[in-house]
Amino acid sequence: MVTSPPYNLDLRYRTYRDDRAEADYLAWLVGICQQIGRVLAPDGSFFLNIAGSSTQPWVPFELITRLRPHFALQNHITWVKSIALEGDSVGHYKPVGGTRFLNRNHENLFHLTHTGHVVLDRLAIGVPFKDKSNIARRGHTRDLRCRGDSWFIPYRTIRSKQQRHHHPAPFPQTLPEWCIRLHGKPDALVLDPFAGTGTTLLAARAVGARGIGIELDEEYAAVARGLLSG
Ligand SMILES: C[S@@+](CC[C@H](N)C(=O)[O-])C[C@H]1O[C@@H](n2cnc3c(N)ncnc32)[C@H](O)[C@@H]1O
Repeated sequence: MVTSPPYNLDLRYRTYRDDRAEADYLAWLVGICQQIGRVLAPDGSFFLNIAGSSTQPWVPFELITRLRPHFALQNHITWVKSIALEGDSVGHYKPVGGTRFLNRNHENLFHLTHTGHVVLDRLAIGVPFKDKSNIARRGHTRDLRCRGDSWFIPYRTIRSKQQRHHHPAPFPQTLPEWCIRLHGKPDALVLDPFAGTGTTLLAARAVGARGIGIELDEEYAAVARGLLSG
């Protein structure tokens, strides 16, 4: 499972109303996550991408706490959308105005499993060693080490909403691709129950997995079908 549900931040989706009372929203999403758990394979992975906002910062943490009886939280990955490095910054984000809050440059990616013991293919998304002497010294056979749990995946630069098919909140294709590759099962079957314009399905196809998407809005689903048939 790789999915990004609506975050309840009053985004303008075409069909879905993203402005529920917080208690209703959490109850709804916990119910859906329980159903995801029901169909998740015993050695499956459930990657849940969610973020809060400056004024609703608790929601992702409320959600993940409520999922504790139903899943093991095997990894908590931070998706970094933009980062300031010495004298430079890379990536895009929506700026936060005023004087109270910092710009929000990251989102959560919770990796949930049934047992907490699902074997992953960490090197499938590994990075080369910085210090090559570590390869022999630490007994590695390949010049690859685990990438860790901070994933820098910037959005590509776009000039119009049309370039994201008029959907307010797609994630970059690299995000689901890394999830599927990290899970590391050949011929994986990937479900995205909030498929939007089909980014997870495109990622599944790109890495040789099979994908199933569920999407409420007919136009987003039509875009997904079009992209998949293109
Ligand atoms: C955050 S977006 C997902 C975007 C997707 N990851 C992409 O890259 O296009 C959440 C999606 O969930 C859809 N949605 C909301 N409620 C739904 C429901 N009950 N069943 C299926 N889809 C739903 C919305 O229409 C929206 O497209």
